Amino acid sequence: MSREKTTRFGVSIPSRLLRQFDRLVEEKKFGNRSEAIRDLIRQFLVEEEWESDEETIGTVTLVFNHHVGDLSEELNSIQHEMVDAIVSSLHVHLDHDMCLEVIVVRGKSSRIRNLADRLIGTRGVVHGKLTAATVGRSF
Ligand code: NI
Repeated sequence: MSREKTTRFGVSIPSRLLRQFDRLVEEKKFGNRSEAIRDLIRQFLVEEEWESDEETIGTVTLVFNHHVGDLSEELNSIQHEMVDAIVSSLHVHLDHDMCLEVIVVRGKSSRIRNLADRLIGTRGVVHGKLTAATVGRSF
């Protein structure tokens, strides 16, 4: 993150809402209100990046049993088919049967979502999650 000028501003907020916010700041270990507000704003910017269908980046986490049908092969073909959206992947053999795969995906958010939905929706995937990150252009 670049070092740039910091601006202070005042916020009007109902007391009850502020108390709830302070409780969250404490629970989530933000340190102080400013840090929490900065994080929330960045979170909004990432959401905006994903909603506006700009180029973005994320990870798809999958847990599956590689003995189930031709699941491994299916997950593999989907990734080969959309190879331009895949940056890298990590495969961990959890035990005799189960595998964990983390795939870094990059591209327009609609395309990433489509890829993630296909992977996660493949029959036999017991856990699947798309985590939206950011290429950091707005920060
Ligand atoms: Ni494995």
